[in-house]
Amino acid sequence: MSVGIMPEKMKAVVLTEYSASLSGVLRNLQVTEKSLRSLGDDEVLVKMTAAPCNPSDIAFFRGMYDIIKPLPVVAGFEGTGTVIAAGKDGKALYLVGKRVSVFSKDEGDGTWAEYFIAKPENCIPVKEGLNTTQAACLAINPLTAYALTDLAHISGSKTIINTAAAGQTGGFIRVFAREKNIGLINLVRKDEHITKLKETGETYVLNILSNDFQEQLSKLAHDLRATVALDALGGEWSGKIVEAMPAGSQLILYGGLSGQYLANINVLEIIFRQKTIIGFNLADWIKDSGPVNYGLVMSGIQERMMKGTIQITIQKTFKLEEVVRALLQYAGHLSDGKILFIP
Ligand SMILES: NC(=O)c1ccc[n+]([C@@H]2O[C@H](COP(=O)([O-])OP(=O)(O)OC[C@H]3O[C@@H](n4cnc5c(N)ncnc54)[C@H](OP(=O)(O)O)[C@@H]3O)[C@@H](O)[C@H]2O)c1
Repeated sequence: MSVGIMPEKMKAVVLTEYSASLSGVLRNLQVTEKSLRSLGDDEVLVKMTAAPCNPSDIAFFRGMYDIIKPLPVVAGFEGTGTVIAAGKDGKALYLVGKRVSVFSKDEGDGTWAEYFIAKPENCIPVKEGLNTTQAACLAINPLTAYALTDLAHISGSKTIINTAAAGQTGGFIRVFAREKNIGLINLVRKDEHITKLKETGETYVLNILSNDFQEQLSKLAHDLRATVALDALGGEWSGKIVEAMPAGSQLILYGGLSGQYLANINVLEIIFRQKTIIGFNLADWIKDSGPVNYGLVMSGIQERMMKGTIQITIQKTFKLEEVVRALLQYAGHLSDGKILFIP
C-alpha cells in the first residue's frame, strides 16, 4: 500500500543491450512508454525534474562499468525531483512532498524518465534555494571531489596531481584543494584547457600529450612535494604519473577515462620507492563515512553551491526523446559541462 499519486505509465529512456561502441549505444537507447510498478513499503516515487549524463553512464551502456544490470532497464544514475508517493515505512513517508537529489546504483530502473522509484537512503533532501540544475548533479561528482581531496589532506600531501582537470570532478577538486590550502598540478589534454585553467588562477597546468610531459611532471611533483595523485584516467597515464612522483607517494585511481587497463607501472617504483596505487569508489566511501558525517558533508556541499563556490556547468538541456543528440553533444564536448535531461 502506498500514499500519494501513482501514475500508471511514464516516458523513459531504456537501454536494451550493452554495446562497446558509441554507435551501438545510441542504437540501444530507446525512448518508450513504460508501466510503473507499485511501491514497496520502503520506497518513494520521485517525479523527476532533471537528470544529467556522466562518464559512468556511458561506461555502463558500454558494459564497461562495475554495475551490470539485467536489461532492459531505464538509464541514468542521478538526478532530482519531488517525492509524490511513498510506501508505508516512516522514512519513506517523511519524504513525501520534498525535493530530493537521487542516485541509482542498485539493480533496477534509473533516472532518465518521468518518474523514478528510490529507496529513502538514496534520496538527499534538497535545501530551499538550491536550484534544479545544481540539485540534479549534487549526489555524485561534488561529493567524490570532496572525499578525494579529504583523503589527500589526511595523507599530508602538500600538492595534488589532478588529472582530467578541465572536467567537472577535476574542477571541484580544485575548489576543495584551495579550501584546504593544498597545491595543485593540473593535467589536461588540450592546450585550450591550459589557457582556461590559468585564467581561473591555476599556476601549474600540464598537457599530458606534450613531448616533455614526463620531465615537466617529475620536476614539479618533486619541487612541490606532490605525494598524492587523483587519477581519473588509468591506462599508461597512471604509470607515467607514478614514475614522476616522489618516493612514498600514492596514486588514487577513481576513473578509467582512458578506456585502458593500468599499464607501464614500473615495478621498481613500487618495490623500492614505496609508491602505492589504491582505488576509490564513492559508494564505499558513503558506506564507510556513516549517515551522520554523510549528511553533514552533503549539507556543506549544498551551502557551497548556493554561495556559488561550487557551480555545476550545464552545456545544454534536452528532452528524453532527444537522447541520441544529447549523447553525441556530451561525448564531443566533455569539458564544456554536463548535459541535462528535462523530462
Ligand atoms: N570512483 C568514483 O566513485 C567516481 C565518482 C564520480 C566520478 N568518477 C569518475 O570521474 C571521472 C570524471 O568524471 P566527470 O563527470 O568529472 O567527467 P566530465 O565532467 O565529463 O569531464 C571529463 C574530463 O576528462 C577529460 N578526458 C576524457 N577522456 C580523457 C582521456 N582519455 N584522457 C585525458 N582526459 C580525458 C575530458 O577532457 P576533453 O575535453 O579533453 O575530452 C574532460 O575534461 C570519470 O571517469 C568518472 O567515472 C568516479
